Amino acid sequence: MKILITGASSGLGAEFARQYAFGENELILLARREHKLQELQRELTPKCKNVEIIVVDVRDFKLLQEKIDAIGSVNMVILNAGISLGHSGEIPTIEEFQNLFDINVLANHAILEVLMPKLREQRSGKVVFISSLASLFSMPSSKVYSSSKRALNAYAEGIRYKYAPYNIKVITILPGFIKSELTDKNDFAMPFLLGTEEGVRRMKKAIDKGREFYAFPLRFYLIIRFFNLLPSALSQRIVNYLN
Ligand SMILES: NC(=O)c1ccc[n+]([C@@H]2O[C@H](COP(=O)([O-])OP(=O)(O)OC[C@H]3O[C@@H](n4cnc5c(N)ncnc54)[C@H](OP(=O)(O)O)[C@@H]3O)[C@@H](O)[C@H]2O)c1
Repeated sequence: MKILITGASSGLGAEFARQYAFGENELILLARREHKLQELQRELTPKCKNVEIIVVDVRDFKLLQEKIDAIGSVNMVILNAGISLGHSGEIPTIEEFQNLFDINVLANHAILEVLMPKLREQRSGKVVFISSLASLFSMPSSKVYSSSKRALNAYAEGIRYKYAPYNIKVITILPGFIKSELTDKNDFAMPFLLGTEEGVRRMKKAIDKGREFYAFPLRFYLIIRFFNLLPSALSQRIVNYLN
């Protein structure tokens, strides 16, 4: 299986690479930090058929599309590259907002604009979106990140319906907190925090089963769903308290 993983230089992406590095799998690892990708390439090359790296900033859409075009088709793409803005709660600048949307949302479309016609032609493939439980619940301090992930959910849903007739599986994953460089920056208590290996093991299981939607940990997901049902006066009081 030929698998493209974006944001593979650290955190969940690097762990996805480790967990898919076996047998006849061919990995294509994409990110900006070349030394990190090379280290991973050295580690994983003995474990699977091939490990290729692509060093690119996903905000450079034109270069990104050229590099994606050059790899031909894949059997699966894990759209994982993403950033958060931290949790200061201040109003972010328009540049910060745009930067985050370029990485978390638009770069994924840039990749799929090139890849989807190839998957459609081969009439198979999996497209995995790494969204977040934060897409279901927007705190004042995470509004930009949450809105980018909610946009991703909507985009994934449309892609899912459009490509289902071509035997292309679109999978949306909503993780809670998992240990990574992104969460290492958080200076607040993270409920139900999972280790990187365990978090990715759960996602891989859902992907391998072909589940279209996977939100976890279940208890955290159910709490958020319950919160979504509350009258707004009550949810406002809870958010004020948490803030
Ligand atoms: N960890 C969690 O608790 C959690 C929960 C829900 C969702 N997620 C999502 O999971 C994904 C992975 O996050 P993570 O937690 O593993 O964080 P991470 O360790 O910070 O990894 C982020 C990855 O994205 C890449 N990236 C960032 N900006 C990029 C750019 N401009 N061009 C190319 N690559 C770029 C980074 O590589 P370079 O810096 O080398 O470019 C890195 O490989 C994100 O989409 C995040 O929103 C994480």
